[in-house]
Amino acid sequence: MVKVAVAGGSGQVSREIVDALLAAEKHEITILSRSEAPTNPIAPGIRWQKVDYDDKNSLVETLRGTHTLLSFVQMLSDPDQKSQKNLIDAAIAAGVKRFAPSDYGSKDIVDMPWWCGKEIIREYLRKVNEKEKVLEYTSFQPGLVLDYLAYPYKTSKYLDPLQTVFDLANRRAMVVEDYEDAVITFTTVSDLAAIIARAVDYEGKWPKTGGIRGNRITFSQIVDIGRKIRGSISVTKVKVEDLEAGDLKSSWGLQAVHHAVADDQARALLKQVAIGFLLSSSKGAWDVSDDFNQIFPDSEFTSIEDFLAGVWEGKP
Ligand SMILES: NC(=O)c1ccc[n+]([C@@H]2O[C@H](COP(=O)([O-])OP(=O)(O)OC[C@H]3O[C@@H](n4cnc5c(N)ncnc54)[C@H](OP(=O)(O)O)[C@@H]3O)[C@@H](O)[C@H]2O)c1
Repeated sequence: MVKVAVAGGSGQVSREIVDALLAAEKHEITILSRSEAPTNPIAPGIRWQKVDYDDKNSLVETLRGTHTLLSFVQMLSDPDQKSQKNLIDAAIAAGVKRFAPSDYGSKDIVDMPWWCGKEIIREYLRKVNEKEKVLEYTSFQPGLVLDYLAYPYKTSKYLDPLQTVFDLANRRAMVVEDYEDAVITFTTVSDLAAIIARAVDYEGKWPKTGGIRGNRITFSQIVDIGRKIRGSISVTKVKVEDLEAGDLKSSWGLQAVHHAVADDQARALLKQVAIGFLLSSSKGAWDVSDDFNQIFPDSEFTSIEDFLAGVWEGKP
């Protein structure tokens, strides 16, 4: 049994992970939140600690005795990443053994300015460990959450659906011309949670890059599977040079952004997200490594074909 603290543990992805950790009944789990604990505990056996990310001394006190600190802090609302930097400093001062930053996405952050906070924190972690290793950490990278291909249907308990360039509901997809073989990694949020729960138990050293390959698949293969499951998929081919120029030459675009994006930013971000996702994919950013597949070779992942067949069966 170890003490696990989950910063931003009240969020969408983190709640899935907290449930997996609670189900294992092995560890003492504490959610760190900027808010007071809800009057009704969110789950039996869970602790809740209100924190002020600007108060490093109190963060150190809160983290004393913590073995593993998982961060799910929403970087979109903290452009300088002050909360996570203070959390890392406090974790080091408190002697926390392991840390996972709020990453949980792609291998590289190229062309995705909305996710630049992840790169800031990767760099910060490299820096604090430059002279000597002061904090063991892993950056969990599951690729894109597979549940998003079920949009607008919700397939997990807490994670809201999100539209992507693979819009199976409307039987359409955007693909970068000449990059049809670009690879994307997709992992369901429940498979991500299962791997993180195992990683918390794992007694070996965490790899710095924590790639998780639920499904490693090309754009063309996704379109093929989409056609098999939805009957037809119309493909819009966009050109890399247009995307680089900030131009999305497509008759359709994304209409729903992540819940953490402020309304006044949403319109601009919708186009940016489609362009950024397509461009970053063409540069291999979503072809994550298989570090945790190797550490846990017996792990079973939901296959994209089975997942989509289940989601879309009987749907209009
Ligand atoms: N690969 C993918 O497809 C994918 C999909 C979704 C998410 N993700 C990643 O998963 C992580 C969590 O995302 P999410 O959507 O689950 O997050 P979220 O629900 O939007 O936010 C998580 C928590 O962050 C805390 N928070 C918000 N602003 C903060 C600030 N300025 N300082 C400190 N804490 C703050 C909030 O907790 P309190 O208010 O309780 O403090 C919130 O509950 C992110 O790194 C995200 O990029 C990846």
